[in-house]
Amino acid sequence: MKVLAVIAAAGLAGAAWGASAARVNLATDNTSLVLGLTNGTWTVLHYGARVADAADVAALDRPGFAPNRMGVRKSAAYSVYGADTLNGMNAFGGLAVQHADGTMSTELKGAAAAAEEMPDGRRRLVLEMTDAARSFHVTQHFVADPASDTVETWIEIRHEEKGPVRLLRMDTVALTLPNRERDVSVLSLTGHWASESQLSVSKVARGQSVRLTSRSGVRSAWNANPAWMAGFGPVTETAGRVVGCVLAWDGSSASEIARDPTDVIELRAGVETANGYYTLEPGRELVLPKAVLTYSEKGRGQVSRNFHRWARDRHLPHGHDLRDVLLNSWEGSRFAFTEKTLLDMMDHVRAMGGEMFVLDDGWFGSGEFARDDRNRATAGLGDWVCNPEKLPRGLAALADEAVARGLKFGLWFEPEMANTRSWLVERHRDWILSEPDRPLRGGRGGTQVVLDLANPAVRDNVSKQLADVVKATPNLSYVKWDANADFMNPGSPSLPRDRQGNLWFDYTAGYYDILGRLRRIRPDLVIQACASGGGHMSYGSLAYCDEFWVSDNTDAHDRVYMQWGAGMFYPACAQGAHVTASPNQRTKRTTPLKFRFDVAMTGRMGFELHPKDMTPEEVVFSRAAVADYKRIRPIVQQGDLYRLVSPYEEPRAALMYVSADKSRAVVFQLGLRYGLNHDEPLPLRLEGLDAARRYRVVEINRSGSLHVKIDGKTLRGDALMGHGVEILQRGDFDSAVLELTAVPDGE
Ligand code: GLA
Repeated sequence: MKVLAVIAAAGLAGAAWGASAARVNLATDNTSLVLGLTNGTWTVLHYGARVADAADVAALDRPGFAPNRMGVRKSAAYSVYGADTLNGMNAFGGLAVQHADGTMSTELKGAAAAAEEMPDGRRRLVLEMTDAARSFHVTQHFVADPASDTVETWIEIRHEEKGPVRLLRMDTVALTLPNRERDVSVLSLTGHWASESQLSVSKVARGQSVRLTSRSGVRSAWNANPAWMAGFGPVTETAGRVVGCVLAWDGSSASEIARDPTDVIELRAGVETANGYYTLEPGRELVLPKAVLTYSEKGRGQVSRNFHRWARDRHLPHGHDLRDVLLNSWEGSRFAFTEKTLLDMMDHVRAMGGEMFVLDDGWFGSGEFARDDRNRATAGLGDWVCNPEKLPRGLAALADEAVARGLKFGLWFEPEMANTRSWLVERHRDWILSEPDRPLRGGRGGTQVVLDLANPAVRDNVSKQLADVVKATPNLSYVKWDANADFMNPGSPSLPRDRQGNLWFDYTAGYYDILGRLRRIRPDLVIQACASGGGHMSYGSLAYCDEFWVSDNTDAHDRVYMQWGAGMFYPACAQGAHVTASPNQRTKRTTPLKFRFDVAMTGRMGFELHPKDMTPEEVVFSRAAVADYKRIRPIVQQGDLYRLVSPYEEPRAALMYVSADKSRAVVFQLGLRYGLNHDEPLPLRLEGLDAARRYRVVEINRSGSLHVKIDGKTLRGDALMGHGVEILQRGDFDSAVLELTAVPDGE
């Protein structure tokens, strides 16, 4: 890597991109993050639309103003609690440390910085900071990706103090914006089991802050997904200034969007320490999770597209691969299967055009702890060996059967968990989270407990068990990683009494360690992150996993809202969306098969039912739907998302995906409720097309009569976008899909 600039605290040694006189313009195609060193403190001079010359924003910087609530006169790039060289004292800040000598404050001085142009075109900036009075060091990293307009950032902490330090707050993002704002809004995702990714939007009044926190050790994406958008001024899908932030962390996290009495804005995101501070030994380095920031002046839609592009290009393990159409056995058979049940499912899904079969829960455990349908979910977790009574020929034979049918094979695991009724817990009672002197609380089935992933011996054991199955099953292509319990007994037998607070961080670091080891054995595996549905829906998991299970609620009506929310931050290729039986097992709602397909087609489509229960007509329809999906999946899974009509505003959703070269697009209108002569859909003004090109419009995945009168017609992008397309809705759950293909001029 070419080092283009090394900036000493005193000034800049050598000229480089965007760097001058201790100023750095970390620019992407459309944004700039300009940082400057002022009296030894790194400050933000600008975060917003791209500027060519960092000196201009430095010249426009406010000459100094009364102390604000954040306690900093200038806008710190990493705001910490403690003495502040610019303004005396910062009472807030995202890092709060009790040092080895008991001192509670920190004063970070910029020691050195290095700016580098990476071989792949990204730009890296590393700021070294050290406490003015003790050997406590913080390194702040930034990596700017020009094409996706994103900036990755993370923090490393290390020290050589005389004893351990306590990290009372340890945020990754603690950014005070240089410009004040009067109209501030926050969009975030909330939910619970079966109701993931519901949108929440609120204003932040002066002197208030919006705080998003999960307080969960495992299924942390539920209460507050570690992702949000802060809007400044009026914001819509297509207009307005928006900063987006995602945190790559599956443990307890907290974010805060604060507006002080003088309208100064502070943005924070990081690991939540409210349930336990972190104790860091001298000489050890703690790497805090990565956060990703993006900015757009084109509203929330562009912020979503920026995250999706970053995820596919820079983060997901196989971000550019197309995902298979799979059948997962869970809703079709639950625990009650034999090998014959599974082979039947394979035959049927293959006949409908499916490409993979995934065996869900119920295949493991042995003897009295077998996970079979008599004891259901009360035994076996922790014992990752095939149950010979259920599958006498074993997993490898089953995988070979799939491959013989032209299918790939996938398998469910719940590696973070155990049942007290398991051989693992029989042998290693001290490997599960528990608290001395308190009765052990059991989760699902009354016997489910969480493994102590802070314990290296536990991680080794789980990793070895996974590796053994993976190695013995060469035809395994996919792993569904589940996690169906939370910290009910929040104590780690492996951590000393005075280090119990570290569990909240070390558990999640341990989860990534095991995932990383699995990835290293089989880099080609497709891995699904699942935690009772969408509990692991985060970019922390997605550094190792290819996709997440959006929700255990597979009702297509409810999925419209959940997938709409998930799409705010996460790309379609990462959203597991399955066609299931109707009435839905959870909600009992009845929806047409076409509607269920159309909703699943907006994500990574699959099946989760027993196809033998389908009528011959449904099988014929499904075969055609799978063929349609395979044709449009490059657009859905790799294209740009444009949200047209929100289900939060209308009794329907409309969205479209456009290929990067704008030659292909697919439009979905997903009708929820129908109101005759008063709630008909309005014409959809399409987006993202090439105004000057002509597109052939074809309604696909049809069942019954057409919803548009332009089926088969060729129209220019300008009319499709400027005038709009009216798509009929004839009843509840009536949906339509249009495929648009650019045609050569003159055709
Ligand atoms: C969780 C998952 C489901 C399924 C079951 C199996 O609830 O979210 O998809 O795998 O566990 O027990």
